Amino acid sequence: MPPIAKPQLSRFASDTARGLASEKQKSIPSRYFYDELGSVLFEAITLLPEYGLTRADERVLQTHSRELPKFIQDPIAVAELGSGSGRKTRSILEALRAQPNDFSYVPIDVSSSALASCSKELGDLASVEPICADWQEGLAQFAELRRGSRPVLLLFLGSSIGNLERKCIPEFLRGIRACLRPGDFFLIGADLVKDVSTMLLAYDDPTGVTAAFNLNVLGRVNRELGAEFDLRTFAHEVRWNQAEGRIEMHLKCCGDQHVYIAALDETIAFRAGETIWTESSHKFTTVELDDYARASGFASVTNWVDAEWPFAEALWRVDATTATARPRSQRKDLSRSSTTR
Ligand code: AVI
Repeated sequence: MPPIAKPQLSRFASDTARGLASEKQKSIPSRYFYDELGSVLFEAITLLPEYGLTRADERVLQTHSRELPKFIQDPIAVAELGSGSGRKTRSILEALRAQPNDFSYVPIDVSSSALASCSKELGDLASVEPICADWQEGLAQFAELRRGSRPVLLLFLGSSIGNLERKCIPEFLRGIRACLRPGDFFLIGADLVKDVSTMLLAYDDPTGVTAAFNLNVLGRVNRELGAEFDLRTFAHEVRWNQAEGRIEMHLKCCGDQHVYIAALDETIAFRAGETIWTESSHKFTTVELDDYARASGFASVTNWVDAEWPFAEALWRVDATTATARPRSQRKDLSRSSTTR
């Protein structure tokens, strides 16, 4: 008799199965935070007084966007990876509007509702040509569609780069570089290292919004994968990992238990005190950012840093003559951590 084929698992199901199977450190990738409820909770996080990152990002752009035409002349398009609502992008498009020719704005996002609000928010400044896809696929589509020789400005704001594993960052950036041409520009937002208590509070706010955002990932596993997690038996935990230069979010199990997940037809055992690692938010220095630029085929043009909350907007130019080298500042033991996820 032929073997009975197991039904195909969704990517969410297979990533969850893999992450929770680990004996060493259970994990769920942070990309699964952003279902409908998770996206609303993230928007709420950006309003928290303790989470200065988004306001700093907006302030730097408001202060410095007007300098962009000095560097980038007559762009054909401003494209944005993970555009979200597009609120932060307004000052950039306004600054570039004083150019001789029109340009288009190309938001790239997996969420069609985010793309719709982007079009509404920014449609008065440029013709909006959204691409509904993940970053890699969307950028490849954009590269294929672009015509003519005018330059492109690509945006990657909000320190989303910090949610990648450090050892994956150079390869990710080289992938971006490969989709751009010499003379194009890349503007990348990155949260900088600051005092530990400020960073911890930003991810462990007293209102409990970040805790809800973190716990919602288990709620999503319950809703979409038919799991039986009792959310009240897991607690939000935030750590500063000095060696890796990152904030880590975990969900700590409060007592020994077994949890059934219908989509996997599996029961997972949890020990009291063990955690599910749900997110890393790496924090950088401007020296590291310059190194990443060099190592991935860009030339660093300038770093704009917020005066209130250390956060940098790094402007890089794609440089045909820039050799790709290993970052000077890459720490020796960084590769170890990312294999645990
Ligand atoms: C989206 N990303 C840059 C946020 C961060 O700060 O790492 C996600 C977040 N996690 C907890 N609070 C905010």
